[in-house]
Amino acid sequence: MSLLFSPLKIKDIVFKNRIVISPMCMYSAVDGYANDWHLVHYGSRAVGGAGLIIQEATAVSEEGRISTGDLGLYREEHSEMLQKITAFIHQHGAVAGIQLAHAGRKGCCSTVAPSAIAFAPEDNEPLALDEAGIQKVISDFRTAAQRALKAGYKLIEIHAAHGYLIHQFLSPLSNRRTDNYGGSFENRIRLLLEIVKEVQTVWPGNLPLFVRISATDWAEDGWDVDEAVQLASILNRNGVDLIDCSSGGLVPYQKIPVGPGYQVPFAERLRNESQILTSAVGLITDARQAEEILQKGQADLILIARESLRDPYYPLHAAKLLGDEIVWPQQYLRGK
Ligand SMILES: Cc1cc2nc3c(=O)[nH]c(=O)nc-3n(C[C@H](O)[C@H](O)[C@H](O)COP(=O)(O)O)c2cc1C
Repeated sequence: MSLLFSPLKIKDIVFKNRIVISPMCMYSAVDGYANDWHLVHYGSRAVGGAGLIIQEATAVSEEGRISTGDLGLYREEHSEMLQKITAFIHQHGAVAGIQLAHAGRKGCCSTVAPSAIAFAPEDNEPLALDEAGIQKVISDFRTAAQRALKAGYKLIEIHAAHGYLIHQFLSPLSNRRTDNYGGSFENRIRLLLEIVKEVQTVWPGNLPLFVRISATDWAEDGWDVDEAVQLASILNRNGVDLIDCSSGGLVPYQKIPVGPGYQVPFAERLRNESQILTSAVGLITDARQAEEILQKGQADLILIARESLRDPYYPLHAAKLLGDEIVWPQQYLRGK
């Protein structure tokens, strides 16, 4: 049996294999509500054999949306369709997870940020959050986590990457605050720690909590891997189970050396130096490449994004390639 198809248990949740569908915005919601597209899209990937499906960035507030097509959990009624989706995913042996997000200055609608600095020169200047605004963001994450639990999700991933609000607080390039939330490393990570703590007041201790970070801004004087390692150690001590290691997205002038598995070294460093579980993501397409990452101890889970858009049954095909015998959906057995 390959490592890719070995189960992994985190807290009370067992993933049947190490293949995770990476969160990907579908830009197909209306007013934050999920619809049949989401049911079929996520459902297909559960049927396709993934161990875990992390639902796309789901906005914790209306103003926190990246686009007007974002899913949301900022109204009680948003949960109804999401309940159908999680039930279907679980019926097919995958675990339903959800990424909770706030876009900050990269939002579609009314933009807020740690400081009044726009993402790109042509963008409108965002409003710098005051103390009350920060407290609202924190409590919006808590409420969304509560609704996610009710909707049947077994795992939350807090989106602290890709230049969205939490990442904007982490990076000195976007955070120029002079209060408790800016300046020193301790101050820049404060918002994330407070969100984690608040989410934990409603999210059961036996269910996994992940955080996605950008391990580096890929820009001079920005957030970097050394700070990411420190943050991961602190999150580990604060009950976070896994760091999902992505990168970039904070500034338009970033220089990313993109190539196969280009972010794997971040997952490896955080895993080794922060003693926390990590996931690797980014241009991982071949099952043998995924298996090698696990065999070398560079990560604990493998996230697949675009390859899973090309092939919703990626895990079924990956098992064949690696020579693993796995259970196919009964309805598809004639195709095995
Ligand atoms: C259509 C699309 C939407 C995405 N939406 C999200 C998202 O909602 N949250 C997130 O953290 N990353 C998002 N990403 C990034 C992916 O999760 C992933 O990190 C990235 O695509 C690199 O992995 P890949 O090379 O396997 O595609 C998105 C990527 C794509 C292609």
